[in-house]
Amino acid sequence: MSVDLVLREGTIIQDGSEVIRSVAIKANKIAGVFQLGSEPEAKETIDCRGLYILPGLIDIHVHLRDLEQSSKEDYESGTMAAAAGGVTTVVDMPNSVPPVLTRQVLEDKIERALSKRFVNVGFYAGIPKKAEDFDVRMLPDILGLKVYPHAPLAKGVKYNRNRIEDCFRLADEGNVPLLFHPDLPAKEEPSSLEEFLQIHSCEAEAKALNLFLDSKVKYESRLHVCHVSCAGTARAILERRAEATLTAEVTPHHMFLASGDFSHEDGTAKVLPPLRSPYDGQKLAGSLCLMCAIDCIASDHAPHTSVEKQAPFLEASSGFPGLETTLPVVLTEVFEGRMSWVDYLRVCCSAPASILGIPNKGVLAKGYDADIVLVRREKWKIRGRDFHSKAKITPFEGRDVLARPVSTIVGGEIVFRDSGFVIGPGLTGRVPVRRP
Ligand code: NCD
Ligand code: ZN
Ligand code: ZN
Ligand code: ZN
Repeated sequence: MSVDLVLREGTIIQDGSEVIRSVAIKANKIAGVFQLGSEPEAKETIDCRGLYILPGLIDIHVHLRDLEQSSKEDYESGTMAAAAGGVTTVVDMPNSVPPVLTRQVLEDKIERALSKRFVNVGFYAGIPKKAEDFDVRMLPDILGLKVYPHAPLAKGVKYNRNRIEDCFRLADEGNVPLLFHPDLPAKEEPSSLEEFLQIHSCEAEAKALNLFLDSKVKYESRLHVCHVSCAGTARAILERRAEATLTAEVTPHHMFLASGDFSHEDGTAKVLPPLRSPYDGQKLAGSLCLMCAIDCIASDHAPHTSVEKQAPFLEASSGFPGLETTLPVVLTEVFEGRMSWVDYLRVCCSAPASILGIPNKGVLAKGYDADIVLVRREKWKIRGRDFHSKAKITPFEGRDVLARPVSTIVGGEIVFRDSGFVIGPGLTGRVPVRRP
């Protein structure tokens, strides 16, 4: 056998332990994992001594913006950020301007992403005001339906029981998961930080979850809970997992940052759901690895301009870039002994692939897509100004981390090598990522 590329003599994780192996790639797939000396002949070899060879991250919660919000991010800057962050598959949220409520907008996004991509890009769609108007021609090209009860994509919609039942019915008919942002509509605009936290409280998160679960009884469709931020929500998910087909994600910022760490003068740490207490963060991290209440990590990469983030807290935009911080921050947990390798590979790679039903991704083994990141264990500091994302303001600014993604391979092609881009946009990566 002769192959296209051999990643030679790197550290891989086998049965939870670090072992030195070589990984062969042929025709966009992993052709096999080999002992030293038994590698097949290759057109190209990368010396991986001193590097980890890991499956690329699959980030199922990303806002790549573009269209009318390309000043915040576009498919090129966003997927460069992904590649530089060791993320080989991203799934783009539908709350763009315009939102993904029609086949036409979805097609515009696909077309732009195709020519600008550096990694695999999948898509979600929203649900129009009248559920009957949902364009089923979107289904082959989306991985899920996403709804925002606190800020509906379709104007004038109220998330009462009927509406939520309609959403579950559509998801059931389309055989896709229903994803939701667990929060309730605010009665008024907040006039202080305290009011902001009061409106987007843990109680609101739990109430929204219960409302959705109670409206789910008629349909088999799966509910995916986005960015769980409170200990109580994680507990509720665990309690109701058996009766309801349910999955959930958590972000690195909700696990590792707390509201009290920030001054909140501007929007640097403003996000929805808000950062919570250190107790919530610890419980969320425990729910991921010890209790299995939460299935995976997603970044909620939500880029905004520096002007939008540096405005006074109440006017500032919520959300921050995450594609270039997830791998360093989470692998630091592994290197400092707070997370096992097995948990890391599950929550960052294989679980996200199975939640969305994307085959052949998220595992470093023969036959899987060759979506791989090479990582060096090295101490460095996160600096927003170095991001490839257009969004440069991060609440992880200055944080010491122990892992650096140095090279990224997407569909067997080297995209990012020794911290620089080696091919142009639009050459590799699947757009859209589809279910089989
Ligand atoms: C997200 C955004 O900016 O699109 N903002 C955020 O604070 N998380 C929206 C969202 O994910 O709810
Ligand atoms: Zn959200
Ligand atoms: Zn809220
Ligand atoms: Zn989001």
